[in-house]
Amino acid sequence: MSIDISDGIESGNLTIKVLTTNTSISTLLTDEKFEGKIIQPHTNGSKYLAEHGLAMSIEIQQGEEIKKYLLDAGGPRNSIIMNAEAMGIDFKDYNKLILSHGHVDHYGGLMNVLPKLKEGCELILTPNSYNQNIILVPKSGQAFYSPEVLTEKFRDLQKENKFIYNIKLPSMNKSIIENLVDQNNLKIIEINTPIKLTSGITTSGEIEIFDEKELTKGFYLMKSRKEFEKNTFRDEISIYINIKEKGLVVITGCGHTGIVNIIKHGQKLTGINKIYAVIGGFHKEWEKTEAIEDSVRFIEGLNPEITCGMHCTGFEFNKIMSRHPSHTFGIVGTEFHL
Ligand SMILES: [Fe+2]
Repeated sequence: MSIDISDGIESGNLTIKVLTTNTSISTLLTDEKFEGKIIQPHTNGSKYLAEHGLAMSIEIQQGEEIKKYLLDAGGPRNSIIMNAEAMGIDFKDYNKLILSHGHVDHYGGLMNVLPKLKEGCELILTPNSYNQNIILVPKSGQAFYSPEVLTEKFRDLQKENKFIYNIKLPSMNKSIIENLVDQNNLKIIEINTPIKLTSGITTSGEIEIFDEKELTKGFYLMKSRKEFEKNTFRDEISIYINIKEKGLVVITGCGHTGIVNIIKHGQKLTGINKIYAVIGGFHKEWEKTEAIEDSVRFIEGLNPEITCGMHCTGFEFNKIMSRHPSHTFGIVGTEFHL
């Protein structure tokens, strides 16, 4: 499959605003380092609320018109609503809300955002968004369990206290979402294939897995109370934007499919190899240093101008990636002008 976004957008016409991420305070001053391309709030006490989650506003200037898209809706503490108000953002300006995947740190604020959207606004998500997920991370030093072992021995492993994380994630309720969509005259689009949003911008559709090692480990789908299936997150939606003469901007929600897979998929889907920026959650929190080194080396080889990890990226990834001049750390209120 391929999507033609060679029409691209002019440099300087893309703005990305971080509405929610895990941190609202940083002492990094990015303005000078990135020559105005990344602006962060200059404060030791931010007016914004941080929580475990992610939400971004993606704004593209096309002539007189600005097309606005939301990627995700942050966590259940509703920081997206409070932060949008503090930033002077009006949800009625948005054409589409793209939900990367059905984890509560991305759909948590959705029930409060949907009634604020304008009539006809599209909610784009994948059919798997409503699935029951469970996180099972073994204690340090133990290998991740295969779905087969879990299906057979989950209760015993639980009794033996083998997990450092054993969390059944709250599933997104399909009827609540569909009712809200109906009540507010929105449109719902359940899809696993890429959608070209406007000139120069497309969603990823299902991500091709080039490297199995890149997948987030420890996440399983529950087919029944006892039956576990590996969650590859192939259907997590990322976004690719082609900036003329600069290359692709890759924007991820949680990056569970692996940032290397997401970048390679974008290159193959769009036929554009030059990577200008990689921004979002890279989910490397639980990875070993060697695995992180492999991902960082791949990105360094592409030599992007900007890489910005936030949300679930993890300390170790941010630390190692910082050796490349492109890297910074995103907080609530960070703005990219690309
Ligand atoms: Fe996440």
